[in-house]
Amino acid sequence: MKVTILGAGTMGASIAQLAATAGDDVVVRDIGAEQLQRGRDAAQRSLARFVKAGRLSDDEAAAALGRIAFTTEVAQAVDGADVVIESITEVRALKEELLSEVAERAPAGALLGTNTSQLSITSLAASMGDQAHRLVGIHFFNPPVMMRLVEVIAGLLTPPEVVERAKAFGEHVGRQVVVCRKDSPGFITSRAYAILRLECMRMLEEGVATPEDIDTAMKLGFNFPMGPLELGDMNGLDTFLNALNGLSDAYGDRFQPTVGLKNMVAAGRIGRKAGGGFYDYDADGRRAQ
Ligand SMILES: NC(=O)c1ccc[n+]([C@@H]2O[C@H](COP(=O)([O-])OP(=O)(O)OC[C@H]3O[C@@H](n4cnc5c(N)ncnc54)[C@H](O)[C@@H]3O)[C@@H](O)[C@H]2O)c1
Repeated sequence: MKVTILGAGTMGASIAQLAATAGDDVVVRDIGAEQLQRGRDAAQRSLARFVKAGRLSDDEAAAALGRIAFTTEVAQAVDGADVVIESITEVRALKEELLSEVAERAPAGALLGTNTSQLSITSLAASMGDQAHRLVGIHFFNPPVMMRLVEVIAGLLTPPEVVERAKAFGEHVGRQVVVCRKDSPGFITSRAYAILRLECMRMLEEGVATPEDIDTAMKLGFNFPMGPLELGDMNGLDTFLNALNGLSDAYGDRFQPTVGLKNMVAAGRIGRKAGGGFYDYDADGRRAQ
């Protein structure tokens, strides 16, 4: 199978690695040689970790990397593709421009997926004209090579057979697939988890418990590997605020960001990348004690 990944960033490089490890011939497209090199380096480093952990042999890792080609040309990238996954920057205008080009150039039989975190599949598909029915959400989790879930999202026009093909692709790369049958902001995962983190923030702001105790309660009480607050620091509280704004536009007050969250973002305490959020971090991103 030939798989085309558009975008060689955090997600694209890892999805490319996943498909190549599953035996697919992969072509990655990004806008410049530097971005492609960064994606290749990331895949190579990650494959080396799989070898170190005894999950791949040296030969298997080298073969997987050898199955990934890199290009800056969209036409070359999608030529002969069976599956195309758009995983570029989460900016609507960029995605729409690229998807309209993909609709024009990809083979008629190719499965066309987008890895958007929160944009409506139906509205992105509108940029594809008479090919709009072909777009389906294929949402991986970070990092795709480690996280077992793929969330498939049907747009309003997506026929069941396209959803089935997206599911089959997710399973082919070894992921467990869930289907969000109605295109809706936050899909299944982000929508449910936002409510949990929001309630944790409300408890914090009401002085019910410390951040440490809230995270510990969630980890030990419900078997979460990370607490909602520490994971919020890892993902970025600016990103969380954007997501909540989108979710509250769609679903109303229950997703309204708290005053505390808005203040933290305004003050630049947006998490690990800024040295502080709910917790403090050193220059290497480790939690300060
Ligand atoms: N990072 C996450 O945790 C995560 C999780 C799930 C889904 N996503 C989604 O995955 C997508 C990619 O996110 P990311 O974290 O990899 O971003 P990123 O910023 O790491 O990478 C984006 C890449 O897209 C490239 N790009 C921009 N315009 C392009 C174009 N026209 N053609 C080809 N490449 C182009 C950029 O040069 C960059 O290399 C986004 O839609 C994001 O919402 C991200």
